[in-house]
Parts: sequence; structure tokens; C-alpha cells
Amino acid sequence: MTSSRLGMIALATVFGLTLFTVVDGALAKSGQADPGYQPKAGSSHAVTTFYADVMPILQENCVDCHQPQGLKPGGMVAPMSFMTYEETRRWAPAIARSVMEGRMPPWFAAPEHRGTFRDERYLEEDEKAVLAAWAEDGAPAGDPADAPPMPAFSFAAHDGWSIGEPDLVITFPEPFLVEDDVVDLYVDIPLELTADQLSEPRWVKARETRPGSPAVHHILGAFAGLAPGSTPTIYEEGYSTLLHPGPRTIEFQMHYNKKPGAGTAVYDQSSSGVVFYEPGDTIRHVVQSDWLPIMRFLIPAGDPNYSASMVHTFEEDMQILSFSPHMHLRGKAAKYEITYPDGETEVLLHVPKYDFNWQHGFRFKEPVLAPKGSELELTLWWDNSADNPSNPDPTRDVRFGRPTTDEMGFGFMSMTPVEPREIIVGEPIPEDILGTQSAVTDTSDPASRR
Ligand code: HEC
Repeated sequence: MTSSRLGMIALATVFGLTLFTVVDGALAKSGQADPGYQPKAGSSHAVTTFYADVMPILQENCVDCHQPQGLKPGGMVAPMSFMTYEETRRWAPAIARSVMEGRMPPWFAAPEHRGTFRDERYLEEDEKAVLAAWAEDGAPAGDPADAPPMPAFSFAAHDGWSIGEPDLVITFPEPFLVEDDVVDLYVDIPLELTADQLSEPRWVKARETRPGSPAVHHILGAFAGLAPGSTPTIYEEGYSTLLHPGPRTIEFQMHYNKKPGAGTAVYDQSSSGVVFYEPGDTIRHVVQSDWLPIMRFLIPAGDPNYSASMVHTFEEDMQILSFSPHMHLRGKAAKYEITYPDGETEVLLHVPKYDFNWQHGFRFKEPVLAPKGSELELTLWWDNSADNPSNPDPTRDVRFGRPTTDEMGFGFMSMTPVEPREIIVGEPIPEDILGTQSAVTDTSDPASRR
């Protein structure tokens, strides 16, 4: 189809009595059958149109990423916008395929966890069927009057910050040039947090790290990191971590990844924004980041299903808030399983198909209670065979290492003591918290501490 031909799409009711022709959004009644869309012979379903049927599904499930100012989970940038009919229609077949094959919307927890995590993304079977029918019908527009109102996206209103206007923004001193020949580059970029920017410790209410260019694969460490490259964190009322004041150096551990070649160089200036609690607010739960490390392993060349595990024992009653498994290109699956003191076990998170491209933080809707003595077992699986399309070299035995061509094995987690505190923001910070919080506020990537 040529593009002018694509601009002409006819809409018919099943009975073929009323025919409308949509020419670039303008609706004109036409007495003649249009050469464009024709319902298939014998088709019994009412015509599925963009404005009436597809747009509501896209708005609900896709457009928070698929728009120019969209969310960039883990630095992943959605390559196309689905805001308007004009932008979306040529993607109709790809949309149908991506949802039928389960790639979109991106979500990696096993289906039995449905309802457990915040921000989970699922399409109902009937919603998938609507998208498939629309593509099959030739992606008709329908009547713009049927369009639902476009929801207000908070990030567009705040210069791209989904957490709202930050109280503090930390960014590279100057843009970093990712050169033409770069494919995969790990670089630590030091930023100065000055005393002018932050003169005393403050309690973090929300934070977000934003990649400054599409070449950012992910940002591993940033300050107050919970999980690398995860989506913005907005703490529940009363939950917080402490951000220590300047002057000090904060490292952004950048991972750039792009296609190499002349003219592919880009400048990147990534940044982190923080919103703080206000004086007088009460902090009841000081959130700690931790990681379960699996670092001693040797994955044999060609092994399709190598696994390793480790166990963490809780020494006081804790609430578990989130998990984020981290492996590299050979990462295959991850599981966190808890054994309570009474012997009962529960799989808290199973990621059956881990994908390195999506560094996802799984945040529980309701914190999980881990009584003192509970044991949390992390198990990770790797696929070092040639059947793993991401595998950079199936002929190599692989150990722990920082480059993506080596492997990692971390189960990041965030948690907080069950016993609540009562810390008033603006009053002196208790000694025990000042002491224990430093590790949390520096960097979350233990691999850099070699
Ligand atoms: C959390 C953000 C996010 C959401 C939500 C999301 N996408 Fe995507 N989408 C992406 C990103 C990022 C890519 C690029 C993936 C890549 O490069 O591997 C992408 C790629 C795609 C592609 C092209 C590649 C492919 O796999 O076919 C299609 C089609 C697509 N998305 C459709 C959808 C549809 C339909 C929805 C809603 C049902 C949706 N997406 C929801 C982020 C998102």
C-alpha cells in the first residue's frame, strides 16, 4: 500500500449499509463502496476500529511508554508512539503479533503472581483479540468522536520527570560522548554533589534516574539505588531512605550499548532527580537495600540450564518490599523462595523468562512479612548454549565478571524492619540510622567494589 492509499480508509458496519471514508482523520460520508477496507466475506464480527476499540486498550496498557515523553523502564526506550491513529496504524500487524506472542506489554513475573506486584502489566484475552481483529481488518480508523480523552501524563508536565518536580537534580558535569565505534561500553562517570545542592541529610520521598540518550542501556549505580536501572521509585507514606549531603562524589555506572558505525555517536547527559519529605513529616520505615550475591560459579560452555543458589537468613522481623534479579546475557530465569520459621515455603517471585534488556524491579503491593529466622533462597539459571540468541559466545566457560560478556548473579532486594520508628523530618536523625545508611546511599552495584 502506498501512503496516500493508507490515508483513505473506509469504515463499514457489518451490514455494509453505511459507508464512511476517513481521509487523514476527516470524516466524509460516501455513497459508494470505498476501495479501501472491506469486511471479509462471511465476517460476522462488527468492525473493530481504532478510535472506538483499540485506542482505549493502548491508552490503558501501552501509551505510558509508547509516546515521545514515555517511561523508560531501565533505560529502555519504546521506539514508536501509539498516541494517535496516524502514528499507530502502520504498526497494527506488529502490535497484534507482539501481544499474541506475549512480548508486549513487557512483564516478566510468572502468571501465578498476578495481583501481587505494583505496576504489573497484563492484557486480557479479549483485549488481545481486539488488537488482533483490528490488524486483520486492515487497521480501520473509525469515528474520531468515539475516541476516549487522552489521559494526562504526569511526566509531560514536569519536563519528563514522572515523580513530579524534583527538589534536587544531579547530572553529568558535561555531556558524555558515546563515540561512533562504541558497541558496549561500561564507564563510571563521577558527579559532584556539592554542599550547596545538599547541605544536610534529607529523607527521600521519590527518585528517578533518567537516561540522557537512547544509547544508554542501563544505569547500574546511582545514589540511593534500590535496584539498578529500575523504574522511578515513589515511597509509600512514611517509607524512606536517607540521602547524605555533599560535598561528595557520586558515581553513575553507565552501560552504553548501540550499533556502531560512522554517524552513530551520541551525547549523553543522564540525570537523577529526587523529591524529599517535608519538615514535620514522619518516617516510620527506613528502607534498606540489600543484595543476595551469587559470585562463585563456572558456567560450562554450551550448558543450557546451569543454576546456582544461595540462602539469606533474616535476623529480625522484616518487611520485604521489592526484588530485582540481575544477570547478564546468559541469564535465563530467577526465583526467590522463602521458608518461614514454621517450615512453610512460598515462592515469592518466579521470573521464568529473564531478559537482560529489562532490568525490572518487582515491588510488592503488600509488603511480605519475613519473621526472624525465615530463610530466603535465591536461585538463578543461565543458558550458555547456542540456542540462547543473546549468548555472545557459547563456546566459553563463563565466570562472574562485570562486562556483559561475563556473568553476574544478584538478587537485589529492599526491605525494612517491621518494628516502626517515629522519626520527625527536620529533627535530628537517630545515630543508628546515620550509621547504617551510608552503604545504601552510595551505590547499589556491589560488582564495582572490587
Ligand atoms: C514498559 C514500557 C512499555 C509498555 C507498557 C509497552 N511497551 Fe511496547 N515496547 C517497549 C520498548 C522499550 C520496546 C522496544 C523493545 C526492544 O527494543 O527490544 C517496545 C517495542 C514494541 C514493539 C516492537 C517490537 C516487538 O516486540 O514487536 C511493539 C509492536 C510494541 N512494543 C507494542 C506494544 C503494545 C501493543 C503495548 C501495549 C499492549 C506495549 N507495547 C506496551 C516498551 C513498552
